[in-house]
Amino acid sequence: MNDDRRQIAILRAAVLCAAVLFATAAACLAASLVAGAGQQKRKLTPFLDEFKSITDPEIVTRAVLLPGDVPGYLARPDTREKLPAVLLVGGGDGRDDWYRLSARELSSIGYVVVAVNEHGVDKLRAAIGWLRKRPDVLAERIGLLGWGPGGAAALRLAMDTPVQACVTCDGFVPEGDVATLKSPVLGVFSRSDAARGKQIDVFRAALARRPVATKVYQFVGVKEGFMGPPGSAAYSNNEAEEAWLQIYEFLGKHVEDAKDGNGKEGASPTAGIADIMRAVNAPTGLRGLLIRSLEKEPRDDAGWKQTRALAVMIAEGAGILERLAPPRGDKMHWREQTGSFRTAAERIVNHADRRDFQGVRQALELLGNRCAACHKQHR
Ligand code: HEC
Repeated sequence: MNDDRRQIAILRAAVLCAAVLFATAAACLAASLVAGAGQQKRKLTPFLDEFKSITDPEIVTRAVLLPGDVPGYLARPDTREKLPAVLLVGGGDGRDDWYRLSARELSSIGYVVVAVNEHGVDKLRAAIGWLRKRPDVLAERIGLLGWGPGGAAALRLAMDTPVQACVTCDGFVPEGDVATLKSPVLGVFSRSDAARGKQIDVFRAALARRPVATKVYQFVGVKEGFMGPPGSAAYSNNEAEEAWLQIYEFLGKHVEDAKDGNGKEGASPTAGIADIMRAVNAPTGLRGLLIRSLEKEPRDDAGWKQTRALAVMIAEGAGILERLAPPRGDKMHWREQTGSFRTAAERIVNHADRRDFQGVRQALELLGNRCAACHKQHR
């Protein structure tokens, strides 16, 4: 999304937050008069009705049955466009009407949203698979958004199955559990007291050690449930609006704007460290080929080009390594090690471009000296 569009999206999000308030107020009012208010169509103020009629297609909703007999509530704009998708995981806390309303609001800014009240990782993984296979969903643009136990379940799912982004609202997992996290995470937390604050600090520090985008927002002095529904005991208007803005922005950046395939942003790389080691460093890998091909000086231009090609791929492999999380050791040291591996490979490229056989041989030796220091700390 370019800056203009992002500005517009933020503006729209703000207006939509207002819409959430109005709609929910209307729903609450109606609920006191009619039973089964959750299914009714929202009533907006004339201004907001007008706003929506100019900019947005209608939202269509329906009940769906996900794999494992998990009931879901699907909302999407009434268009044929393929859209990014969000799996919305409720907290199992009786706020189902509000989760559905949130699903409709989120869908109105251009997502297929499915709301569920299921916390089992196996069933949630199957729900992601179901979303990805839908013809109206962009399979490489999937986000998670959950509250309380649903937020914790979303995090566990993000650890299990890479997605473009995961938002947890007042849902934690134990610190050690984020060790395998490969998806960007936004945490939105109520910091109601000191004990809660400590829990958030520990969680934030654990997230910060992951090699992915993570952000934690804390709203001091408000209670769990502060985001809604409006009128509930814990609801806190200003904080709720700010939280929604952060969520819209995070999903916009990481899900809506995700690059397809294995772009640097968004989709997590599918290669693991061991893959790169085998492809690059195993005797039959790129480095082995390079060593064998450089036993003698390349005879012609084609030979030098082959040397260059192998070294370039080794350097690119080091670039992928840098973005992955080592099984052990700290992040800074990992950056240094992958960086110097890459530099050594780039040196081979430079010498090959100058047809400097001695230089190439020395740089190749340097590359071979990089293995032990890294393995000692990280393997
Ligand atoms: C930047 C750090 C780093 C550098 C540099 C590095 N390695 Fe590794 N290597 C690792 C890590 C981490 C693992 C363990 C990966 C895992 O098990 O997930 C590993 C695993 C391996 C494996 C086992 C792969 C498998 O089949 O499971 C081999 C072989 C290997 N490295 C060879 C090398 C050689 C040879 C070099 C030097 C030319 C080298 N590595 C340089 C970090 C590095």
